[in-house]
Amino acid sequence: MKLGNPDLIRCIRAEIDKQGPISFARFMHQALYHPEHGYYSSGRCAIGRTGDYFTNVSVGPLYGQLLTAQFVEIWEQLGKIDNFMIVEQGAHDGQFARDVLESAQKRAPEFFAALRYRIVEPFPVLQERQSRMLEQFRDKVEWRDSLQPFLGIHFSNELLDALPVRLTSGEMEKLVDVEGDNFLFVERALSQGAAASKLPSDRWAFNQPALEWVDDVAAKLQRGYIIAIDYGRLADEFQARVQVRAQHRNLDSPFEQIGYADITMHVDWSSIVERARANGLRVAGFTDQHHFLTGIIAELTEGGSLGPSLPDSPETKRELQTLLHPEMLGRAFQVLALEKNVAEPVKGGQLLKPKADSAVERSDRRRWATQPIRRIGCPPGAEWVDAEVRRLAGFKFEREPRDVRTVPR
Ligand SMILES: C[S@@+](CC[C@H](N)C(=O)[O-])C[C@H]1O[C@@H](n2cnc3c(N)ncnc32)[C@H](O)[C@@H]1O
Repeated sequence: MKLGNPDLIRCIRAEIDKQGPISFARFMHQALYHPEHGYYSSGRCAIGRTGDYFTNVSVGPLYGQLLTAQFVEIWEQLGKIDNFMIVEQGAHDGQFARDVLESAQKRAPEFFAALRYRIVEPFPVLQERQSRMLEQFRDKVEWRDSLQPFLGIHFSNELLDALPVRLTSGEMEKLVDVEGDNFLFVERALSQGAAASKLPSDRWAFNQPALEWVDDVAAKLQRGYIIAIDYGRLADEFQARVQVRAQHRNLDSPFEQIGYADITMHVDWSSIVERARANGLRVAGFTDQHHFLTGIIAELTEGGSLGPSLPDSPETKRELQTLLHPEMLGRAFQVLALEKNVAEPVKGGQLLKPKADSAVERSDRRRWATQPIRRIGCPPGAEWVDAEVRRLAGFKFEREPRDVRTVPR
């Protein structure tokens, strides 16, 4: 078994030698984000055919083109405001940003003129790559190392699955220890008063950074949408499974190829939605990627409001199949859209007062947390949308849902 980057391993071992077993979140943080040797922070991560794994973005430009159509619709819905901001977090080499900006420039010039693109990137090596990738859009793009207030859209593709998780269950936690040359898990009782996972006792995952990310983005979004695309499960189906990938192979253990492999965890969508609602955000839609992208494509090809139809080339067809096919990326990925202070524009581009805060009563929130996200009847898979929320193109369903059940308020 290849252990990985020797310098990184030395750092982690030294930490354990000094203070005893560490949480898996700390281990994952060091493996991915150690300032010098982390898989992401060192710039070692490679995505795509010659890298370690594929993402929606690495499939080709179509993904960004489809999302651009969704962004245009949102911009129109918000009253075509100037300095409309797309904030992307987890932008890797900037490919998605470039696909979006190229598509907007070509297909939606009015939107392009109003657009600013902000990348939240804490790692200098990635910022450099992004700025090379986005050279032609130097006037449109800005960088920040943390989230700042914005009005528009927050977008992320596979950000949440890369945030460090603790492995806790009930009163127990799996910690990382060393024995001889090897790392191994040891189980310990949580210290009294420590935040324990609310998941049932047969599941092990507690993604505190993901919940803190929700708090942060909810506070920084002044008005608009948050669109998070990732692979995960709802509460009733959630099984914590650490995934480790290198060179398109799933490795058996996070203790293999440390610093050379990606480590991820399925996203627990239910806890994300619960936290979002606690922050006053509303669910604008939740579905699988297949249905989300199909909704956008329907608008494009039926000559709907989203502009000209898709390019018709063999590459586009191949990309479409990879993104949509249930056995490829179509069902593995889900799309969650949250909204804040979105109101109907009135004539002249002025806005009505924001809708009333939709915070759910505490008791309902607790009840909701124990249930899976509600389905709305069609299509199959997990779909959910808040009552009263106007649906975005990506959440357009073939027929009106007959069975809209919403959370009791
Ligand atoms: C799985 S990669 C996804 C890359 C890209 N979005 C794609 O789909 O091809 C996860 C990315 O999230 C980034 N990331 C993790 N935590 C972050 C944070 N707090 N702020 C910004 N980016 C972060 C990592 O550096 C990494 O580039």
